[in-house]
Amino acid sequence: MAQFTKATSVKDWLNQRLAIEKVEKVMGSEYWIPKNINFLWAMGMILAFLFLLLTVSGIFLLMYYQPHVDTAFYSVNYTIMSEVDFGWLWRHIHAVASSVTFLIIYIHMFTAIYYGSYKKGREMIWITGMLLFVTFSAGAFSGYMLPWGQMSYWAGMVITNIFSLGDLQFNGLVEWIRGDYAPGQAFLNRFFMLHVFLLPLAIMGLIGLHFAALRIPHVNNQDGEEIDFEAESKKYLAGDKKGSKVMRFANDFLSKDVMVLGIFLVFFFYLVFFHYTFALDPVNLDPADGLVTPKYIYPEWYFLWSYEILRPFSVNIGLIAFGFSQVIFFLLPWLDRSPNTVAASRRGLFKYWFWLMLINMIVLTAMGKLPPKDPFSTIGLISAVLFIVMWLALPFITKNEKKA
Ligand code: HEM
Repeated sequence: MAQFTKATSVKDWLNQRLAIEKVEKVMGSEYWIPKNINFLWAMGMILAFLFLLLTVSGIFLLMYYQPHVDTAFYSVNYTIMSEVDFGWLWRHIHAVASSVTFLIIYIHMFTAIYYGSYKKGREMIWITGMLLFVTFSAGAFSGYMLPWGQMSYWAGMVITNIFSLGDLQFNGLVEWIRGDYAPGQAFLNRFFMLHVFLLPLAIMGLIGLHFAALRIPHVNNQDGEEIDFEAESKKYLAGDKKGSKVMRFANDFLSKDVMVLGIFLVFFFYLVFFHYTFALDPVNLDPADGLVTPKYIYPEWYFLWSYEILRPFSVNIGLIAFGFSQVIFFLLPWLDRSPNTVAASRRGLFKYWFWLMLINMIVLTAMGKLPPKDPFSTIGLISAVLFIVMWLALPFITKNEKKA
C-alpha cells in the first residue's frame, strides 16, 4: 500500500488520496494552449456551458412536466407557462438554448473545417464531435415530442416513417420504434426516457471523450503552425512567458473563454427575453391531433438542410441521399487527402469548396423552410445534387494540393 503521512491541510489530505495537484496540472495549469488562436476557439466552452444550462433548466421543467398524452400539452402550455412562478423563464431558456446550441455547433464545426482541425492526430476529436452532433440532434428531436403539440405529433410521424426505408417497407421497424401503429402513449414514454435520461448520459460521456481526445494532439491554431509543445512549455515555465508560443489552459485561456462567454450571454438573454418565439413553432400551440394534418410539416431550422436533401427526390433516392448526408461528415478526415493543416484561405481548390459548401447548406436550409413548389423545389434539387457531388469530389480536389 502507498505511504500516507499525517496531512498538514485538507488539500494535502486530498492530494495524498486523489493526487489532485497532478490532476490540476494535467487538466489546467500545465495543459498548454497555443497563443495564436481567436475567439472562435471559445465555441467549445460555450457549448459545454449551454449543455449545463439545458440540464439545469430541464431539471426545473421536469418538476412539472407530465409525460402523458392527455396532460403533457397542458402541463407545458398552461401549468409551466402560467401557473408556476418563473416557469415561463425556464421554458424560454430551455427552448432558446436548444436552438442556439445548434447555431454554435455549426460555427464550431465550420471553424474546424476551415482550419483543418480534423486532420492527422485529431481524427478522434472530429469523430467524438460528430457523435455529439448526432446525440444532440436526437436530444432535440426527442425533446420536441414532449409538449405533444401538432408539430410534435406530425414531425414524430414523419421522422419515424423514415425507418420504413421506402420501398423496403420495414413497417414492422417503424411500429417497433413507435411502440404502436401511430405515435401514442408508448411513443411519448420512450421519447421522454431518451430525452431526460439516456441521451444526456451519452452526451456527458461523449463530452468527456471529446475533451480527452484534445489532450494529446492539443488544439490547432489559426496559422497552421506545428508547435513543439514540450519546448514551448519549458520556455513558459522557465519564466519566458512572452517568448513562449503557448499559454496555460487555466487560468490564461479560461479567462479569454469567460470573456467571450460573457458577450455570448448578453446575446443569449436578449433572445430569451425578447425573441424567444423563434425557438417555439406556433403550430405547436395546438394540441396533438392525429386526424388533422398541418398544411406544412417541417423540422426546426437546424435540421432543414438535411430535410431538403431528402425532399426533392423520389422516396427511395431521397432516403439514400439523406443517409449519405448524415454519414459523410464523419468521413471528412479521410476524404480530405491534403496533408495541409492550415486555414482554407491558404489552400488550393479547398478554399472554394469550403465557402461553396457553407453557402449551399444555407441555401438548403432556406429552401427546406419554403413550401415544396417551384422555383423552391428546383433550387432545392440543384442544391441537394451539388451537396452530394461536392463531397464526392473532395478527395480528388485535395489529392494534389501543394504544400502550404
Ligand atoms: C456539442 C458539444 C461539444 C462540445 C461541448 C465541444 C467542446 C470542445 C472544446 C472545449 C474544444 C476545445 C476548444 C475549441 O476549439 O473550442 C473543442 C474542440 C474541437 N471540437 Fe468540439 N465540442 C462539441 C461538439 C463538436 C462537434 C459537433 C464537432 C464537429 C464534428 C467538434 C469538433 C471539434 C474539433 C475538430 C475540435 C478541435 C479544434 C482545434 O483543434 O482547434 N466538436 N470542442
